[in-house]
Parts: sequence; C-alpha cells; structure tokens
Amino acid sequence: MKYDFTSIMDRRGKDSIAVDGLGQNPGFAPEAPKDGFSIIPMWVADMNFPTVPTIPEALAKRAAHPAYGYFSPTEEYFDSIIRWQEKRNGVSGLKAEHIGYENGVLGGVLSALNVLCSKGDQVLVHSPTYVGFSMSLENNGYHAVHSPLRLDEENIWRMDFADMEEKIIKNRIHAAILCSPHNPCGRVWERRELERFMELCRKYDVYVISDEIWSDLTLEGYEHIPTQMVSEDARQRTAAFYSPSKTFNLAGLVGSYHIIYNTWLRDRIEKESSLSHYNEMNVMSMHALIGAYKPEGYEWVDELRQMLTRNVEYACEHIRNHYEGIQVSRPQGTYMLFLDCSGWCSGHGKTIQDLLKSGWDVGVAWQDGAMFGGPCHIRMNLALPFSLVQEAFARLDQYVF
Ligand SMILES: Cc1ncc(COP(=O)(O)O)c(C=O)c1O
Repeated sequence: MKYDFTSIMDRRGKDSIAVDGLGQNPGFAPEAPKDGFSIIPMWVADMNFPTVPTIPEALAKRAAHPAYGYFSPTEEYFDSIIRWQEKRNGVSGLKAEHIGYENGVLGGVLSALNVLCSKGDQVLVHSPTYVGFSMSLENNGYHAVHSPLRLDEENIWRMDFADMEEKIIKNRIHAAILCSPHNPCGRVWERRELERFMELCRKYDVYVISDEIWSDLTLEGYEHIPTQMVSEDARQRTAAFYSPSKTFNLAGLVGSYHIIYNTWLRDRIEKESSLSHYNEMNVMSMHALIGAYKPEGYEWVDELRQMLTRNVEYACEHIRNHYEGIQVSRPQGTYMLFLDCSGWCSGHGKTIQDLLKSGWDVGVAWQDGAMFGGPCHIRMNLALPFSLVQEAFARLDQYVF
C-alpha cells in the first residue's frame, strides 16, 4: 500500500464525535467504555484513517496566504468534479452549469423536498432507512412512506417493486429519496434495479432525490451507477447529491454538491437553497475538494476500497463462523454492517440493549440499529485499521458473545 491505512490515530480531543461524543447523546451515541478499555469507534459514519495527503497539503497552502475574503468557486473546482464524475462514474455530458454547491447532502435533499412537496406530503423511502432521512422528513413536516427492502434467497437486500407501486398509488407519492449505495444495508444497486425503479417513477411521475454520498465507496467487484445515467428520463427527473466528505473524511469541513440536469428543477432547488443565505461555500472546503480530486485521491480511494473489502470479508466471516443467531447480509458498498441480532437475543434471553451495552462496556462503540428501523439490530462501522477490527472482534469473542 502506498498510503497509510494501518496507523492508529488518537482522535481524542481532536474534534471528533466518534470518540469524544460517547455518552453525550443517549439513544444516538454509544456509552463510554468501562475503565481499562480503549474506545474502538464503530458508529458515526466517518473513518479512522488519515486522509489522502493532498488534502492537508492543499489546505496548508491556502491557509498560508493570509487573506480569506469573499470568493467565487474556481474553474479548477468545477473541473475537478467533472473529471472525478467522468473517471469514477463514467458520467458524460456533465458541465459546470449542472453542478451546484450544498453545505451538506442532507441539506440538499431537504431543499429538493421543499421544491417538490407540500407540507404533509408523503415521500417514498426504503427501509431500513438512514436516520438523517427519517429525522429530517419529520422535522420538516413530511411523512416517510417506507417500502421495506427484503432479503432474497441469496441474502441480498432487494427492492420490492410491487410494494413500492402500491404505496406510490395509495399515497399519491410524487417524490422519492433513493439512497445509492444504500446506508445501512450496503447495497450497490444494479443497473436493472435502477432502471426498473426509475421506470416506476416515470409511470407515476415521481421525482427522485438520489443521495449518492456513498458512491465512491463500493467494495471490490461492485460498480456504482449514477441514477441519472440509466435513461434520459432519469436524467431529467433526478436531483443527485454527492460529496467528497464521506469518501475522504471531510465532514467537519462541510462541503457537498448537487448535479441536476433539468433546468427547471435546478433553478427551483438553487433558489430554495439560497433563501437562508447559509448555503455558502467555505474557501477551505473548496481547496479540500480540489486536493481530494487530485490523481493521488483516485489512488487513495482505490486502496481504501481494498482495505474496506478486507475488513468486511473478515468481519462477515467471523460473525458467520462464531456468532450463531447474528444475521448479516454482506455489504457491497459503504463500510457499514447491519446486524440482525434477533436470533441471538432470543436464544440468550437478552434484549438488544443488553447486547449493545455489553459491547460498549468493553470499548466496542457500535450503534443501536433502532434509529435506522432495525428493532433488534446493530450498525457497525468498519472504517478502521484492520488491527482494530480484529481487536474489536477479539473483545466481542471474549466478553460479549
Ligand atoms: C446516506 C447519507 N446521506 C447523507 C449523510 C449526511 O451527509 P451530510 O453530512 O453531507 O449532510 C449521510 C451521513 O452518514 C448518509 O449516510
């Protein structure tokens, strides 16, 4: 490996809720470990690897120029995104005018909803559901209509097209949020699935908000297909949201972007997101994106994907061989495992809270799956050096299972 995916970073006191946030937000954050156990952060969706060096280099270079006044995004910013989308996702025909800044992907999703929906409207999402969608829909006066993903005979999460169709008709749905790849289930949608989903949306005139924040983090053997690429109609009825934040661990710098080809939709969403005057780019985050999308960033992500693939293989194998009653579908993207613990809990007379707590006590800071719609589930973040993943499973073997 050219880049460092093995050093264990001490993130304590370095602005990270992954370690400093334990015990701070009951119901959301894990509890702090008992004395004698170090924290292994396996919850909030950020990574425990030092990012690609071209990012801190770009930041340091810009910081060295001691004026940080008003600015406009540069041509290099747009070119970096266009090149990235062409090379990573096979996108063609993308121009600077299709790209717009968003502070965060979730904020972009909300601006799109505010354009497409009236208060009280029903919005189609898949369940399990990323907690940010559920909370934001509710906070903003929309209703989530959940269409459950179902495990097929090969233990792969699939969309239920009949269920979606029924719910679209019944609830007069005209907006859907698609999470691609899917958090927390880790599905990388296949072209035929996206085509069928988008065909359904065309049939009932449903606009699609495609959250592709995880698009760079496909595991080896899987390829991300942008929703907008599956047909001309999909290109026109979809607002897509991306960010280097998940890929390169830049969430604390803030900075994402949308791609919207449909001029009407783009103008409406940009108007909506401009209203508060809060949705403005930070000069450091612009330089972070440019640093991320340098050639080194392409190499770094490919190495990262190898590391994540190895962690996922190891973890799934270990769970399958050692933890009877814990079910997991091997993810194809993201770095999350979504563990169904119902068999284990009923077999051992324990609640999911007992199980979570026994992990938290020994520093395995995994996350309650209830907020993602998993009643007896745990979400587990594997974006850690391999040695820490091994350490987490050694502690689970010894103290928990
Ligand atoms: C699917 C998905 N969308 C959006 C976000 C949040 O993105 P942002 O911080 O850019 O709003 C996350 C973070 O985990 C996510 O998993």
